[in-house]
Amino acid sequence: MSEETITADEPTRRDFIYVATGMMGAVGVAAVAWPFIDQMRPDAAVRAAGLPVEIDISAIEEGQAITVTWRGKPYFVRRLTGEEIAASGELGAGDMKDFQPSDERISGPADAENQWVVVSANCTHLGCIPKTVENAPEGWYCPCHGSVFDSTGRILRGPAATNLPLPPFVFASAETLVIGTETAGA
Ligand code: FES
Repeated sequence: MSEETITADEPTRRDFIYVATGMMGAVGVAAVAWPFIDQMRPDAAVRAAGLPVEIDISAIEEGQAITVTWRGKPYFVRRLTGEEIAASGELGAGDMKDFQPSDERISGPADAENQWVVVSANCTHLGCIPKTVENAPEGWYCPCHGSVFDSTGRILRGPAATNLPLPPFVFASAETLVIGTETAGA
């Protein structure tokens, strides 16, 4: 009669069942967890929402402002006329509550006239979107509670206490503005 000897080093049928059960459990946990892990990954649109945005400014005429979106928030891009630049330069500290020299808010591509203003389009009072007033020293009017901003986004009067903030931006070329970075080519 032959006798089967089993040593501790040899896998038994019971060991195999334990191992197989454990592996199936791990696969099951992974299968259940994957939808949650996958759900936590930002989709392409969300990832893109945080990236800098390129804006073709070649068709924007003097005196015109457009509204663009970056990170889900609106921003004004305005090309000033010579009269608007002159009028904003004449305003002093006594004309506004959050004074900042206008030339610190007006910029442009290298080798081109500084005539661009890029500012948040959310009123600094309670966040409404002001209306653009073209070709006038009063550049934006907020219909919610009457705040008035000059053409560089500085608060002139009304309940808003601070100027429209400037986002990070850079002119990548004479035709291209990039909002969301201060480094050309980023
Ligand atoms: S939200 Fe603009 S004045 Fe109140």
